[in-house]
Amino acid sequence: MSAVQKLAGKFIVIEGLEGAGKSTAIQYIQNWLIKQGLVEAQIALTREPGGTTLAEKMREIVKMDVQGEQLADKAELLIMYAARVQLVEHKVKPALADNKVVIGDRHNWSSLAYQGGGRGIDLSLINEIKQVALGDFKADFTLFLDIEPELGLARARGRGELDRIERLAIDFFNRSRAVFQQLVVDEPNSVSIDASQSFNQVEESIHTQLDKWLESLL
Ligand SMILES: Nc1ncnc2c1ncn2[C@@H]1O[C@H](COP(=O)(O)OP(=O)(O)OP(=O)(O)O)[C@@H](O)[C@H]1O
Ligand SMILES: [Mg+2]
Repeated sequence: MSAVQKLAGKFIVIEGLEGAGKSTAIQYIQNWLIKQGLVEAQIALTREPGGTTLAEKMREIVKMDVQGEQLADKAELLIMYAARVQLVEHKVKPALADNKVVIGDRHNWSSLAYQGGGRGIDLSLINEIKQVALGDFKADFTLFLDIEPELGLARARGRGELDRIERLAIDFFNRSRAVFQQLVVDEPNSVSIDASQSFNQVEESIHTQLDKWLESLL
């Protein structure tokens, strides 16, 4: 089977803390796919939370600063899943059914890391909600960009003001990072990339890991 045939209908997800380099890495993944022979029309990009008109509205709610009212942790969790279902049903699944490769900027792991590790919601509860919302749907391959929160935030800060989530303590991000790291250990179809490396080194690491994954596909 050709590389293009092997890759058809695959969902590749990039995960990592703020400023880890996810948006940058999506370019590297696209370059790699094009090297494998795909054309741009065969690649779809999504981001979470968001990615459809209604899911972007839900993203706005999560990022809103409302005086005198805090978004409850479980409300945040459920909005994340509402947005994710909306994206998966309206964008991701149709694109995969159309044999496109979908590259996701964040997916399910972000809820386990942020709402679970960060906010302290029980991971088994999140997994139950995930099962109700999405069933067994999941990424075919997950690249986790691992970075120290301080470095990621410094990179993100270079772009301007921090939002509500970004302003939360470094501790929060360290707990989130620990969950991401454990998820990589538990999921065979995933790898960790050292995101503190230079642009070129990160690109090379990503390409090497994608090559290995492609070889493993039947
Ligand atoms: N390997 C790298 N070395 C140095 N700077 C980098 C590297 N990768 C990305 N950056 C820079 O760090 C900033 C954040 O990168 P990027 O937007 O790709 O991260 P992100 O994970 O998508 O962030 P966010 O979570 O905020 O969407 C950008 O200014 C980007 O140019
Ligand atoms: Mg980004």
